[in-house]
Amino acid sequence: MPKKKESASSASAIREAARQHDFLAPVFAQYPFEVASAQGVWLTNSRGERVLDLYGGHAVASLGYAHPAWTEALARQAESCQFQSNAVAMRVRNRAARRLVRFSRLPFASVFFVNSGAEANENALKVALRMTRREHVAAIEGGFHGRTAAAGAVTWGAREKWYGFPRTPFEVSFIPRGDKAAIAAQVTRKTAAVIVEPVQGLAGAVDLGASFLAALRARCDEVGALLIFDEVQCGMGRTGEPFAANYYNVRPDMLTTAKALGNGYPCAALMMSPLVAASLKPESLGTTFGGGPLACAAMIAVIGALKEQKLLERVRRVGNYIRRTCVAGPVTAHQGAGLLVGLRTRRPAKEIQAELLECCVLTGTSVDPHVLRLLPPFILEEEHVDVLRDALRDLDP
Ligand SMILES: Cc1ncc(COP(=O)(O)O)c(C=O)c1O
Repeated sequence: MPKKKESASSASAIREAARQHDFLAPVFAQYPFEVASAQGVWLTNSRGERVLDLYGGHAVASLGYAHPAWTEALARQAESCQFQSNAVAMRVRNRAARRLVRFSRLPFASVFFVNSGAEANENALKVALRMTRREHVAAIEGGFHGRTAAAGAVTWGAREKWYGFPRTPFEVSFIPRGDKAAIAAQVTRKTAAVIVEPVQGLAGAVDLGASFLAALRARCDEVGALLIFDEVQCGMGRTGEPFAANYYNVRPDMLTTAKALGNGYPCAALMMSPLVAASLKPESLGTTFGGGPLACAAMIAVIGALKEQKLLERVRRVGNYIRRTCVAGPVTAHQGAGLLVGLRTRRPAKEIQAELLECCVLTGTSVDPHVLRLLPPFILEEEHVDVLRDALRDLDP
């Protein structure tokens, strides 16, 4: 009898949890508002209020919302052919790869399209381990690379917090951020690859700097390891250059990107140097959805809009304007690059974020409890930044 009671109460607890989360897995903390629609850099919540979006859905909404060329490109592609796998040739896929490599202004020879940032990193690591026949990867303290087995293995702090796999698929060691003297001990002839976010996003927009990245490049060359730039968050124009590799003038062997690449249509890419590309043969890598025609149409539209609307220039200009004007109220300093901005706050950033949301300004936080993170659409204007500045000035310092 007691057993029956227990199972009845656990069943009702499960039903209650399901009701609370509308049957969605209860793994995300959510902002206290609901988005009903969006236009440009503005969200409209379910109460009909306009909210300025300075977070872009974790850096995804590069062109903002309801961008006409992006919307039309997806509609046109959906009408003409919504899907064929990589086993079938489609011009839109070749065009997307060509446009992406040209946009990068980097000497890449090959693009492998996938669906998410983690998947791009998973494949980059697999290629490096296979190519070098080594079993060790070095990563940087504070870096985030995704939640799959390999990407999570090189993510700082994952194993203590959420990793979940009994062991990592290869040996991993971490280099302290910016510590050039520590590189040689962690990157040796046993190292297949070094993976690094040139500007660490989740860590709080931490710019690792040209000289540290160049030192990683030099050590990789010395020991025959491959350098992987994870530009899932900081790439595709967010620094004001096509990629952080251009911004710092350091050339990786592989570069992964996602988020801003599709403006919300899920897609990601792994770009490879000629030497890395030459190591691939049929069936080395694979995917069903990666490089699907809708994703390719979205990527082409994003790259086209970045060029036609001169958005990289705008990222640099408006990013600088934020730095000049938004050290105000509780904000004491800024960090990051382009429109990947960390605002250092005197009080806990979560408190400031909640207060800004009450003023209808959406911002993000980071792993650093005193950094408010901005990842706005690239179409942001100075007048929008003024809304943030005025709201910050009105807050208690
Ligand atoms: C730098 C970086 N790498 C990888 C990822 C993982 O990307 P995804 O969530 O698309 O798997 C993220 C996501 O936030 C990221 O910021």
